[in-house]
Amino acid sequence: MKRSPFRTGGLAAILSLGLTAAALGGCNWESSSASAGADGGASAGVDFGPSRCGDFPWCDESLSPAERTALLLAAMTLDEKLSLLAGDDPFGVLTGTPATGTSDGIPRLGIPPLYMSDGPVGPREGRATAMPAPIALGAAFNPALAREVGEAIANEVRFKGNDLVHAPTVDVLRHPLFGRVFETYGEDPYLAGRLGAGWIRGAQSQGVIANVKHYAAYTQEGQIGIPPVFAAVGGRHLVDAVVDERTLREIYLPPFEVAVREGGVGSVMCAYNFVNGAPACGSRFLLQEVLRDDWGFDGFVLADYFFAPKATAQSLNAGLDLEMPIGVVYAKPLLQAAVHGGQVSRATIDRRVGNILRTLFRFGFFDRAAFPSDDGLIDKPAHAAVAREAAEQGTVLLKNAGVLPLSETAPTSIAVIGEPARTLPSGGGSSAVEPFDFVSPLAAIRARAGAGVEVTFDPGDDAARAANKAAAADVALVFVADRATEGVDKFCLSLDCTLADAPDALLLNALPGGLADIPDSLLDPILTSPLFAPVLDEVFGPVALGSPLLPVSHRDQDGLIEAVAAANPRTVVILETGGPVLTPWRDRVAGLLAAWFPGQEGGPALARVLFGDADPGGRLPVTFPAAEHQTPTAGNPAQYPGLANRAEFTEGVFIGYRWYDEHGVAPAYPFGFGLSYSTFAVDDLQLDADGDSVRVSLRLANTGGRAGWTVPQVYLGLPSPAVRQPPHALRGFDKLWLAPGETRRVAFTLEPRAFSYWDSAHGGWQIAAGCYAVAAGTSSRDLPLRVALTRTPGGWREDGDC
Ligand code: BGC
Repeated sequence: MKRSPFRTGGLAAILSLGLTAAALGGCNWESSSASAGADGGASAGVDFGPSRCGDFPWCDESLSPAERTALLLAAMTLDEKLSLLAGDDPFGVLTGTPATGTSDGIPRLGIPPLYMSDGPVGPREGRATAMPAPIALGAAFNPALAREVGEAIANEVRFKGNDLVHAPTVDVLRHPLFGRVFETYGEDPYLAGRLGAGWIRGAQSQGVIANVKHYAAYTQEGQIGIPPVFAAVGGRHLVDAVVDERTLREIYLPPFEVAVREGGVGSVMCAYNFVNGAPACGSRFLLQEVLRDDWGFDGFVLADYFFAPKATAQSLNAGLDLEMPIGVVYAKPLLQAAVHGGQVSRATIDRRVGNILRTLFRFGFFDRAAFPSDDGLIDKPAHAAVAREAAEQGTVLLKNAGVLPLSETAPTSIAVIGEPARTLPSGGGSSAVEPFDFVSPLAAIRARAGAGVEVTFDPGDDAARAANKAAAADVALVFVADRATEGVDKFCLSLDCTLADAPDALLLNALPGGLADIPDSLLDPILTSPLFAPVLDEVFGPVALGSPLLPVSHRDQDGLIEAVAAANPRTVVILETGGPVLTPWRDRVAGLLAAWFPGQEGGPALARVLFGDADPGGRLPVTFPAAEHQTPTAGNPAQYPGLANRAEFTEGVFIGYRWYDEHGVAPAYPFGFGLSYSTFAVDDLQLDADGDSVRVSLRLANTGGRAGWTVPQVYLGLPSPAVRQPPHALRGFDKLWLAPGETRRVAFTLEPRAFSYWDSAHGGWQIAAGCYAVAAGTSSRDLPLRVALTRTPGGWREDGDC
C-alpha cells in the first residue's frame, strides 16, 4: 500500500499568537467544538494500487512534491507544458463519458490523464448514489456527517475512474432566488466553512482531489434564460459582483479560507462572474494575493466550465492554472502567442504547470494505479445508508401541533397528497444525479404504516378532489416541491410560481415593497387549470441535465395546501424544495417539515421521520422569509439582479439572518431553527478567558420523553465603533443526541479571529474596543443565555450586558 499522501489541515499555531493584524489573519476565527465538529485528518486505509510512474527521476517517492515537480518541469518542452493548461474533452460535461472533464496526460513523460467528475450531490456519470442536496447537509449542522458524505461521494467518483471531484460548493447564499440555493450550505459563512472542511477531508481520504467552488462571490445565475447555459439579466457569465473588501473577507471568502487552511483542499474552481471589475478567473487579488499569499494555498486553480476566464494573459498572470473543459482562452495558439509576444513569462508558465503537478504528486497520483471504472466496486448499501442518515439529519421540523410523530398519534388512515410523494424532486444542472435506487415517500410510508393503516394517494392536481380524500382520512400528508436549476434563478419564492410570475418577478426587484401581482392573479387560474397545467409542465419541464426550461411549475400548490388544510385539521406539509419558500398557510396546518431535495433515500428517511423512528435532525441553514419583498436585496434591482450586469452588494455583510436581525424584520422561520420530537433546556453559560481566546461552555438537557437531536449555537455580537456590525453572528455550534433526562455540557473556543472585523483602511483583521455580546441557545432568534465581554489590556473580562 502507498503512503497516504494527504495532509491534515492544521489549526495549530496561531492560537498562541497575540492580537496583531497578522495573527488575526489565521483561520482560527472558527471555534472548535467537541463532538460532531471535531473532524480528524484524512486516512481511510485505502489501497491505491501499484505505482504507474515508471523509472523517471521524478518517480522517486522519497523526494518532496516540490522536488519531483522541479525535475519533471525540467524535462518538459514548452509545448508540453502548455498542453497541461487546458482540458481536452468538450463533451464529457454533457455525457459524463469518459468523465465530466479530462486533461490528457503526456505519455512520453509518464503523465497519466486526469479525470474529473461532478459533484456535490454525487457523480454525474451514469448512475450513482443521489445524496440529499447540500442545503440538507447544511441543515444537518454536522461536519462529521459532511465528512461521511464527502467520503462516500468521492469513493464513487473514484470507482468511476476519476481523480478529482468538483465539490463541495461553499458559496454563501445571498439571495433565496439563486438557482443553486440547493447546492449551498446556506447563508452563514461559519456553517459553510465547517461543513465544507469536513466534506473535503472525507473526499480527500479517498485519494480524490476535492475542488472547492465557486471562488468567489458567486451568488446568482441571473433572470430569464435557458438553463443551464444562459440568463439574460444579471447572468452568471457576465455579472460583476461589486462588493467591498470587508464584505468579501467576512462573508464570501471565509468558507474558502477554511477549505484551504483547515480542509487542505487540493484545488479551487474559480467562478464565472466578475468581482469588482475583474473576472474571478482573472483576478490577481483573488487568485494570488488572497488565495496563495494570505492563505498559503499550494494546490491548483481550475476554471468553471466554458467561458469563466475571459482573457489569456490576464488569467495566466493572475493565477489560473487550468481551463476546463477545453482551452478557449487557453487554446494552444493563444498560449503560445502570449508567451512569444512577451505578455506572459516562461516562469509564469512553469508556476502554472508546477501548481498542477505538485498537487498531483502530493495526492499520490503518479504513485498509484489508475482508479478502476467499475460501479461493482461501490458499496451501494453503505452509501445509501449515508444518504438516508443525511436526509434524516437534514430534515427540519418547522411546526408540530401534536400531529407528529405518527407512531404516537396512531392514525388508522393517511391521505398522501401531491405528485412529489411519488417522484424524486432534485436540482438541475451539474448536480442532477441519476440515482442507483429510489423508493418514493409514498411507497415508504405505505411500507412503514403496515397493513392495519389505510394509505390513500391523490396527485393533487385537483384541489377539491384532494380535499375530499383528506377529509376522509385521520391525517393528510401534503407533499409539495419547487423547481430550481443551475443557469437561471427562480422567478419567485412562492410554491405557486408559474409563467405568470415572470413579469412580476422582474417588477418586484424593480419596485421597493413589490407590486400588486396583476398578471399573476389574472393568468394563474388559467395556467394552473387541469387543462393547461400538464401541457405547460411538460413544455417547461426538465430538458437537459435535469434542468427545466424555466424554473416554474404550473400547480397551485399553495391553493392545494389551503384546500386540504380546510378539509382536515391534521394536515402536515412536507416541503421538497431547493431552499426557502413562502408558507402563507403555515398558521392553518398542523405540521410542517422542510425536507429539501432529499436524494434517493428521501422516501425511507421521511417515512422514518414522520413515524418517529428518527428524530428530525435539521435546523434551518437559511431564513424562511414571511414575504417575497422581505428579503435582503428585494426591491432594489441595482443589488439584484443588477443593472447593466453590475450587482451592487450594498447590503454589505447584512445578508441572511444578519439582515433580518439588523432591520427588525420577522421571518417566517429563523436561521438555526428546527424542532425535535423531544424538548431541551439550555442553561449555565460559562466563559473562561484563556489568553486571547475565550472558552464558552453551556449545558443542555433533554427535558422531554424521547431521545432526540439538539443543536446548541453560540453567537457573537461585535461592537460597532468603526464599522456597523450585525446584532450577532454564528461562531460555534454542536449537534448532540441526548436520551430523555440526559444532560451534557458542550464547550466552544472562540479564537481571536472570532472577535475581529476586516479593517479595510489597514488591510487586516482588527479587534475593536468595546463590548462583545456572547449569546447562546438553539436558534438565531432563541438565545436565552447572554454574557458580555470587554477587551482589556490583560485579556477578556466578563461585563454584565452590552
Ligand atoms: C458548474 C460547475 C460544474 C461544471 C461541470 C458548471 O456549469 O457551474 O459547478 O462543476 O459545470 O459540470
